[in-house]
Amino acid sequence: AEGGYYMQEEIREVVEYARALHITVIPEIEMPGHSEEVLATYPQLACSGKPYVNKDLCIGNEETFEFLKNVLSEVIELFPSEYIHIGGDEADKASWATCPRCRTRMRQEGLEDVDGLQSYLVHRVEVFLNGKGRRLLGWDEILQGGLAPDATVMSWRGSEGGIAAARAGHQAVMTPNSYCYLDYCQDDPTREPAAAAAFVTLEKAYSLDPAPDSLGVDVVPMILGVQGNLWCEHVPTGEHAEHMIWPRLMAIAEVGWSAPERKDYDDFHARVLDAVAWMQQRGYHPFDQKNAVGPRPESLDTLHCLSTGRQVVYRTPYSPKYPAAGDASLTDGLCGGWNYGDRRWQGWLDTDVELVVDLGERLPVKRIAACFMQGFYADIWMPRAVEISVSDDDRHYTPLAVVENDIPFEYKQDCYREFGWSGQTAARYVRLKALHNGHPGGWIFTDEIIVEYPRRGGFPGCFLAMCLPLQWERGGAKSFRPPGNRVS
Ligand code: ACM
Repeated sequence: AEGGYYMQEEIREVVEYARALHITVIPEIEMPGHSEEVLATYPQLACSGKPYVNKDLCIGNEETFEFLKNVLSEVIELFPSEYIHIGGDEADKASWATCPRCRTRMRQEGLEDVDGLQSYLVHRVEVFLNGKGRRLLGWDEILQGGLAPDATVMSWRGSEGGIAAARAGHQAVMTPNSYCYLDYCQDDPTREPAAAAAFVTLEKAYSLDPAPDSLGVDVVPMILGVQGNLWCEHVPTGEHAEHMIWPRLMAIAEVGWSAPERKDYDDFHARVLDAVAWMQQRGYHPFDQKNAVGPRPESLDTLHCLSTGRQVVYRTPYSPKYPAAGDASLTDGLCGGWNYGDRRWQGWLDTDVELVVDLGERLPVKRIAACFMQGFYADIWMPRAVEISVSDDDRHYTPLAVVENDIPFEYKQDCYREFGWSGQTAARYVRLKALHNGHPGGWIFTDEIIVEYPRRGGFPGCFLAMCLPLQWERGGAKSFRPPGNRVS
């Protein structure tokens, strides 16, 4: 709502509008993490007692529980839903470890670690909700430290949390982020509005099987269904929200409503194109699926060039968080897709990156290049510059080029840019130094190092060999007609 909050009267209107359409609105009241806005106005609920310092509620403080009971009581008055979502995701937990009140709580309750504190809070809130005739729903992190007895788990970090909950006899809702997150970009990010630096196509969303039979007859019935999530940090308008939701929500709905053996992407895709046209005619703003680019074109081919299969010497080791396919990744002929998390992009955090390709022998070289990406919302930046040099002994390097970045830091759409050199040289070792742009917490990502001696189109002349017909007349071409092009 305008101004960032709903009045009670507005909530009643939303709930009633949905009810008339047979839709239940379930509120999510986030705790104990993601609570910065609460702590800004109720700083006494933070471990530090100060606003804008901590992200989590203090679990050692009884006032936290008073506050939550008051908020939840008001929420329960407004929302008739059986379930109340209490969040539970992405608590930082760092302040709890040193907070005297949290430590006292841990001692008194016999809790082993900070996970136990989160679990303590969720248990207490569940008792409160159950006392009001409601049931607790939370993100899969509520498994940490032990699940509350009747809790239902919403599985967002993959499906594993939901499966673990279902195996333990709890209900689960599947919303694994790599299939169900509608804030992720759905097509070529260089043409799409800036979004979370991650990627879910219509086809990917459609491919989810939320409850495979292989889980067994005890587990499958515990999985209640699927959910799509649209977080709106980067979605300022209703039109933009429609663009992000449609048509991927159709895929999520069909995943929920269809037996897996009845799913057929080609058939679905054809129906989606009709549905999108229908929506467009009525003034809605779905993504124009018929013009989708699909996967990054570079990622569909396998490269074969001088560097393919050669050893990369990592003067700067890549981050264990983003190893891609390991040491062979940058010369395996496979370029990355749109998403840095696709195991083809290799990442380095807070450092210049120095890489050497050993071609095995001295070879003529005409082109050296590597592609880098920028993902503003994932702290992935173009290098400030890339220095390209060559050597025959891996000790004395001849500089060939310093390629400066020209993508602004503030550029929010994901983008991909090649830093390269072309010319004539010969060398055994090729070195690239990608210089960090200096922003703390910033990543550098690259997917492939390309060293080429291109031949395509590079020959000095063109030749045509033919046998002259015995009867060669000047007017011959005029009387020639291609077969099938008869003039009657
Ligand atoms: C979540 O996306 N943090 C549930």
